[in-house]
Amino acid sequence: MIMICFVNTTVLVLKGCHIQLFSLDLPDASIDVVIACQCFHWFVNSAALEEIHRVLKTDGYFGIFWAITDFSVPWTNRLWEFLAPLYKEKSIVYPFDEKWKDVFSSTQRRLFNDLEGNLDYSLNFPIKDFDDAHQFFASLSVIASGNESTKKSFRELFDEVIREEFENKGIAVEQIPFKIYLYWCNKKN
Ligand SMILES: *[C@@H]1O[C@H](CO)[C@@H](O)[C@H](O)[C@H]1NC(C)=O
Repeated sequence: MIMICFVNTTVLVLKGCHIQLFSLDLPDASIDVVIACQCFHWFVNSAALEEIHRVLKTDGYFGIFWAITDFSVPWTNRLWEFLAPLYKEKSIVYPFDEKWKDVFSSTQRRLFNDLEGNLDYSLNFPIKDFDDAHQFFASLSVIASGNESTKKSFRELFDEVIREEFENKGIAVEQIPFKIYLYWCNKKN
């Protein structure tokens, strides 16, 4: 995961902050913008919000960014049906289940003004071939950290989806559709 903090024009990139004891090694009110890139689902909790609030300057911004496979497309949706129970089992928050937003209202004091969002952007991630696509999905944490039987079952499902949705129809898989989730809010003082 990556946290990006802006101090004037200086960009500090914090990689792999400790998740349980979420702490940013930065002074109080020292940062203009904090952006959680592809990582907020690992620390959707009040302690993290308090810490981000602490390091932000007056009116500083907290941004949240995710680029996630668009699972509304028929072939990716079939993969999602396999992945969803694994996310649920590991209690991993995913951005299109908007429950993660509750952390902003369940935190004892209001730390941020209302969250704004933009879901208008999407992109297609180019892939070389089926193996490349499989490698991408197999690198998702719920598969990569899963046991051998999960990895094997996923591979079987993936091959079946590719066969039915692409090969049998004579279609090449050239890209994985992604949806961009952008949110931001500013510090409430
Ligand atoms: C492998 O992981 C899956 C998903 O977490 C679980 O349901 C299954 O029981 C595990 N299988 C083995 C053999 O441990």
